[in-house]
Amino acid sequence: MSSMSRRQALTAGAGLALLAGSACDSKTGAAIGPQSRQFPADFLWGTATSAFQIEGALAEDGRGATIWDVFQNQPGRINDGSTAAVACDSYHRARDDTALLSGAGCNAYRFSLAWSRILPDGAGAVNDNGLDYYKRLVDGLLESAITPYPTLFHWDLPQALFEKGGWANRETAQRLGDYAAIVAKSLGDRVKNFIILNEAAVHTIFGHVLGMHAPGLADAALLGPVAHHQNLAQGLAITALRSQGSDFAIGTSLALMPIRPGPNWLEPVNAFVADRFDQIWNRGYLDPLLLGTYPQSVGDAIGKALRPGDLETAHQKIDFLGVNYYAPAYVRFSASSPAFIALDSTPKEVELDAFQRHVDPAGLGQVLMRLHKDYGNPKILITENGVSDPFATGPAILDDKFRITFLRRHLEAVKAAMEAGSPVAGFFIWSLIDNWEWTLGYTSKFGLCARDATRTQKASYAWFQALTQSGMLDLGA
Ligand code: FCB
Repeated sequence: MSSMSRRQALTAGAGLALLAGSACDSKTGAAIGPQSRQFPADFLWGTATSAFQIEGALAEDGRGATIWDVFQNQPGRINDGSTAAVACDSYHRARDDTALLSGAGCNAYRFSLAWSRILPDGAGAVNDNGLDYYKRLVDGLLESAITPYPTLFHWDLPQALFEKGGWANRETAQRLGDYAAIVAKSLGDRVKNFIILNEAAVHTIFGHVLGMHAPGLADAALLGPVAHHQNLAQGLAITALRSQGSDFAIGTSLALMPIRPGPNWLEPVNAFVADRFDQIWNRGYLDPLLLGTYPQSVGDAIGKALRPGDLETAHQKIDFLGVNYYAPAYVRFSASSPAFIALDSTPKEVELDAFQRHVDPAGLGQVLMRLHKDYGNPKILITENGVSDPFATGPAILDDKFRITFLRRHLEAVKAAMEAGSPVAGFFIWSLIDNWEWTLGYTSKFGLCARDATRTQKASYAWFQALTQSGMLDLGA
């Protein structure tokens, strides 16, 4: 059998098997190959990033402080002691960013708007300088035929709103709605696609339950209210955008992961724990938005913060769902952890990324098939996928074959899922340039380009350029 015919034979039953959820080789991470490696001509190819991680210029032109400005300056919070004060200097180099995107053949760009550039106190007076920066950025993108996909909130809550209670305060939801209306009025003539929130689950759990991200709170009682107020905020923001522009396409980006029980002697208990964590991590955001309900354990955690009518507000029609995918999670029972859930180590003999997570493209296929089966098969954009260099303070690895292989394998999983009926319409690589990776500072590098004076292009940049030009995923070595 030639390798092509072997591949075809392997994929013959792939669609059905994927739909049945049984085609994932989660041990080896091998995705079922697609039947064709040709992506549609109108597929969106882009990169993704966020304001705080690239812009720098934190005190310029009237920008207000955010929870990350404060957190990054607290001793011991950031591994390499760095700050995002300069980052990729994108506030001054937006034209260079656009040129790089254009050079890579991208037709879309996901970035985020810094709420506190537009509303320095999160509410009240609008800072026109902040809006002007985004107008310039967007105009440059449009001149280069790159469709802007701004995210309204990528974790950088204005500090003034945090001081009024942040996401624990229901009023913050209304503030996001007001901010969305201002964005729609000021940018809606040129921006037509909006992503409301980035990974609300990460912001809730890492920022408010585990104290590992800004605002650095470690209080399990915040889980429900913080999750709920973001879901509510999202509903209000979607409503505000819709009332301003009937031609907007609106979505949100979730960090979706298959949650698997750690395979130790406690596996049956772990399976129970995995289901609970799935409710907290995935369903706590999917269900209210797409089904208008909360899973039991999230509903319990929200308690009185859930008011009549809230679920109607959170349950909105969206035009696409943004899926951010890096890895599955393994969990186990732990008597001493919040909700008795602890992260388990990844199974032995699987391939690991720099975060010691399982490199598992099949997990992405699993996520897409779940959305197909349980959530009405919404239109999907993969709004983040990518891989970091091994953590280090030295220069970036320019011959980044591992990144090309990682991306190729995840795109194979995407294409196979598309062939099984998942309406995936685009793929955004995290990220264009190595940037400030939150608590890892500059030690974690996800870029197609290095963060140096000339933004040196890595091997993956040329590889992506070839892909965006042809839409044809290469076979690799
Ligand atoms: C995602 C975040 C993004 C970046 C990547 C590596 O969880 O949305 O800001 O940190 O991971």
